[in-house]
Amino acid sequence: MGINIDKIRADFPILQRKVNDVPLIYLDNAATSQTPKQVIDTIANYYAKYNANIHRGVHTLSQEATELYEGARKNIQTYFNAKESHEIIFTSGTTHGINLVASGYASLLNKGEELIVSEIEHHSNIVPWQMLCEQTGAELKVIPMNINGELEMSAFDRLLNAKTRLVVVNHVSNALGTINPIKEIIKKAHAVNAKVLIDGAQAAPHIKADFQEIDVDFYTVSAHKMYGPTGVGFLYGKEELLNSLPPYQGGGEMIHEVTFEKTTYAELPHKFEAGTPNISGGIAFGATIDFIKGIGIDNIANHEKTLLEYATKSLLNIEGLHIYGNVANKTAVISFNIEGIHPYDLGNILDKLGIAVRTGHHCAQPIMSYYNIPGTVRASFAVYNTLSEIDTLVKGIQKAITLLK
Ligand code: ALA
Repeated sequence: MGINIDKIRADFPILQRKVNDVPLIYLDNAATSQTPKQVIDTIANYYAKYNANIHRGVHTLSQEATELYEGARKNIQTYFNAKESHEIIFTSGTTHGINLVASGYASLLNKGEELIVSEIEHHSNIVPWQMLCEQTGAELKVIPMNINGELEMSAFDRLLNAKTRLVVVNHVSNALGTINPIKEIIKKAHAVNAKVLIDGAQAAPHIKADFQEIDVDFYTVSAHKMYGPTGVGFLYGKEELLNSLPPYQGGGEMIHEVTFEKTTYAELPHKFEAGTPNISGGIAFGATIDFIKGIGIDNIANHEKTLLEYATKSLLNIEGLHIYGNVANKTAVISFNIEGIHPYDLGNILDKLGIAVRTGHHCAQPIMSYYNIPGTVRASFAVYNTLSEIDTLVKGIQKAITLLK
């Protein structure tokens, strides 16, 4: 089945707006994606009809809000094929999920044990682990990348050993779009009894992840990268692993009983959900999943593949343009530079032409160091982007070149 782009675009009110008097072309989807009216309406409806604190009240509004919030959790569980809904912990986003696990491992790691990260991680999947290693005396090892933006899997094989406790890699690189072979990584890590956390922020909007099928231990996601609201995401963890971690934050909702002698903690998922959560965001996350299911993730992936192929070919026709990250298995993210032009200057001119791209190091400085560049221009695509928008991008870059050179 194909997809009807006009119908999909009609669901996104923001795509009707103009920037600098020209129609917006939004190509910064890896930073945050736009939000369809189904999700916006869900948030508005919550505040208009069900606004109440959850899991706390006997009153009708509280019960209705709780039912919707827990329904969203169930929806997420089913979509990603987690075994239990209490293995889905609502968070404020991917960074929160990673920090939750890193903080928990502080009491489980010993000096001399090892953690493996990769060279193509977002800073949020590097820094929490560095902090953890400083705290525990564990050692951080790095899987190197190659010129194409892939992980050197033979180096990973050499790094893995009986001291490896945890392997943390992204499913998809935010800066390059590389899809990592996470199933193979998980299998190899499990062979030495290490656990695996996958940063799924850049994968969930574009490709399917089936948690039980890949046998992942922890997987984290942000709703706002997948057509949902900001400030909400989830951490998936296998039940026994989540049970083995201490709570991340203390507060209301996460306790079983509080006394000054001894406090006992609530069962999953509440043990990790202290305080009033982003209730409307959680419910809207459920609507986001429905939106993606309505189109079909395979249809989204196919459309984005067409965009990626067309954009790669069109951009490479521009003289002096170099694309970073060149693997067959990637999502629709293109990081590039043009000889003699600073990425920031190009991004600025594109903005004047109504085209939104991201410029800079993309919170992935080790990748920039590898290529010895300060940053790139990044065009990242979503289901609502079109081939004609790519034509306009190419014309915009050509115009910028004549202005800047
Ligand atoms: N992680 C986001 C990006 O890649 C912000 O742009």
